[in-house]
Amino acid sequence: MSKIILTGDRPTGRLHVGHYVGSLRRRVELQNSGEYEKIFIMIADAQALTDNFDNPEKVRQNIVEVALDYLSVGLDPTRSTLFVQSQIPELTELTFYYMNLVTVSRLQRNPTVKSEIQLRNFETSIPVGFFCYPISQAADITAFRATTVPVGEDQLPMIEQTREIVRRFHAVYGTEVLVEPEVLLPNNQACLRLPGIDGKAKMSKSLGNCIYLSDNPEEIRKKIMSMYTDPLHLQVSDPGHVEGNTVFTYLDAFCKPEHFRQYCPDYSCLDEMKNHYRRGGLGDVKIKKFLNAVLQEELEPIRARRTVWEKDIAGVYEILKAGSSAARQAAAETLDEVKRAMKINYFEDTSLIREQAARYENT
Ligand code: TRP
Repeated sequence: MSKIILTGDRPTGRLHVGHYVGSLRRRVELQNSGEYEKIFIMIADAQALTDNFDNPEKVRQNIVEVALDYLSVGLDPTRSTLFVQSQIPELTELTFYYMNLVTVSRLQRNPTVKSEIQLRNFETSIPVGFFCYPISQAADITAFRATTVPVGEDQLPMIEQTREIVRRFHAVYGTEVLVEPEVLLPNNQACLRLPGIDGKAKMSKSLGNCIYLSDNPEEIRKKIMSMYTDPLHLQVSDPGHVEGNTVFTYLDAFCKPEHFRQYCPDYSCLDEMKNHYRRGGLGDVKIKKFLNAVLQEELEPIRARRTVWEKDIAGVYEILKAGSSAARQAAAETLDEVKRAMKINYFEDTSLIREQAARYENT
């Protein structure tokens, strides 16, 4: 079976380095590996509207921001189909049919939905659209017959729910028209969930603790110099903690051995640096300066590509339009098969018409 990727992001803000190590960097590697027959990257605006329905302008403004971030990290529209979810009506249609296969109590048990309900104070009244977004996500994934879904850890319950819907569809309708997807998580613990610069568990716009891919060098440097480290490491000579120390978590996610040769030749690898910090005698300013050098090197080419694309916004929209049209074709093929399996293909089924006519001929 050919390997197909589908993944995407909600357009509620610019993408940050958490998105980068958690998913974007991997997508580009997968794209360039040549192992995948098709790669679909979706801007999930319809899903973003499930909890921003009263703020469509925010979603509208961020479509192009996310597209620029995609192009600047190296997603290549000639090799990956970049598209906008709401422009594929087939996804909504699939969602409606899948709704029959999922119970309310199953949705209530979805851990991601649960924590989002808390976060948004939806406890007393949950919008139905929001409640059903895991079903719509199953439609996104299956419409493109995705075998592989590279996402962060928080999306695991969505993929599990998708797999259940696929199995249920096959059991109920008796034909194997859908593909059960596999999740592809980041391969490094630090990348699984990169903390914010304040050390909080998650990078989020509302907490103001993000480093954005589009930040300029000075903004990046300031954010790194203000990073949360080890509150017990008061003097350089004090022994320090590496675990839970944001600077080291970022180094785990970003640094390669060659960075030491270039920017910090006192150490040959990260473990040596960590050991020195644990023993005492290594100051926060030094590790922050090193992280700054590493991060600037990684983000500089991304920012440079962004600057080029920012001068061709019309071209960016053209890419999304062409991608959406290609994505629509692919989704329509799956929807046709789904409707055939569900026996709602009345007008293409000549035997149905003949049978019904025959029934009446004999009366
Ligand atoms: N839920 C994802 C997020 O919050 C976005 C998304 C929508 C997605 N549909 C998807 C991711 C399908 C992977 C596959 O970022």
